[in-house]
Amino acid sequence: MNVLVTGAGGFVGRAVVAELAAAGHSVQALARPRRDGPAPAPAPGIARLHYADIGDAAALAQACAGVGTVVHLVGIISEVGRNTFERIHIEGTRQILAAARAAGVGRFVHMSALGARPHAPARYHRSKWAAEELVRQSGLAWTIFRPSIIYGPGDQFVNLFARLSRWSPILPVMGSGRALLQPIPVGDVARCFARAVTEPRALGQSFDLAGPAALSFVAILRTILAVTHRRRLLLHIPLPLARLQARVLEFLFDRVLHRPPPLNRDQLLMLQEDNVGDPRPAQELFGLLPVPFATGIGRYLASPRQGVGQKNL
Ligand SMILES: NC(=O)c1ccc[n+]([C@@H]2O[C@H](COP(=O)([O-])OP(=O)(O)OC[C@H]3O[C@@H](n4cnc5c(N)ncnc54)[C@H](OP(=O)(O)O)[C@@H]3O)[C@@H](O)[C@H]2O)c1
Repeated sequence: MNVLVTGAGGFVGRAVVAELAAAGHSVQALARPRRDGPAPAPAPGIARLHYADIGDAAALAQACAGVGTVVHLVGIISEVGRNTFERIHIEGTRQILAAARAAGVGRFVHMSALGARPHAPARYHRSKWAAEELVRQSGLAWTIFRPSIIYGPGDQFVNLFARLSRWSPILPVMGSGRALLQPIPVGDVARCFARAVTEPRALGQSFDLAGPAALSFVAILRTILAVTHRRRLLLHIPLPLARLQARVLEFLFDRVLHRPPPLNRDQLLMLQEDNVGDPRPAQELFGLLPVPFATGIGRYLASPRQGVGQKNL
């Protein structure tokens, strides 16, 4: 099958490309054009590389030509400049759906997020829901995945706290840290996407992608510390102070540094609510073997080079 993967250079994208290539698919990758120097050579497993912004209709039309399935992974967790949730999640999905339809693409496998719903407090979740609705109404044969937090080599969550704990005597917890998350390994997410491309029972279905255990933020930090054999103080930051901090970071990173901040107010809202779902339908259909969180992160945090998995598109 000829498969186009958008967001192919990202954390999840690299794993999905590898899984699709290993399953024998011909993978076309869509990645954002680089402003900082010449385009690197395509990563192994990629038959063809297209450089395009998700808002570039002409480039998307070209990338969809001759493609059987689109796997749409493009997404952002922080808004920077013109890259807002509305532009990337909603308009970007609208554009790629239109290009896929016009090119006669057979299937569309879409990345959403657990917690996406119409009246969610976080704009990230609301925009992800609006994108899901576009996919459901597209007329294409679709599958939607809704993961909780995804971990693995190169992730921006577990690695962030593991790195921080190397030198900092404290780890910050925003608010109570009691809200529950269900972390899932990136390998499992990639496997589901790769199998969904040919699995007829996945058509017209939305799947939660969640690990075997619901863990509080505090429990996740304690597990990271246990796996890395460190003892650090968990410092609870009151929410009003955390919001102020996030606001300053947003301003500094967006306006001055022009890159995503390490924390934004939308993420704070999401961290205050449970992000859990039912892992069983995906486990059963895609043959996942649930791995305990401590075992999963031990596979890459235990190595001296924490957080391998650099961008290579
Ligand atoms: N990681 C998680 O825990 C998690 C959980 C639930 C859902 N998700 C969803 O999973 C997807 C992948 O996330 P990730 O963790 O792999 O994030 P990531 O590493 O930041 O990957 C996102 C990808 O989207 C691309 N992208 C962003 N803006 C674009 C634009 N304007 N035009 C074209 N491409 C653009 C990025 O390109 P660059 O490389 O150039 O930035 C990158 O390749 C996202 O939709 C995210 O919302 C992630």
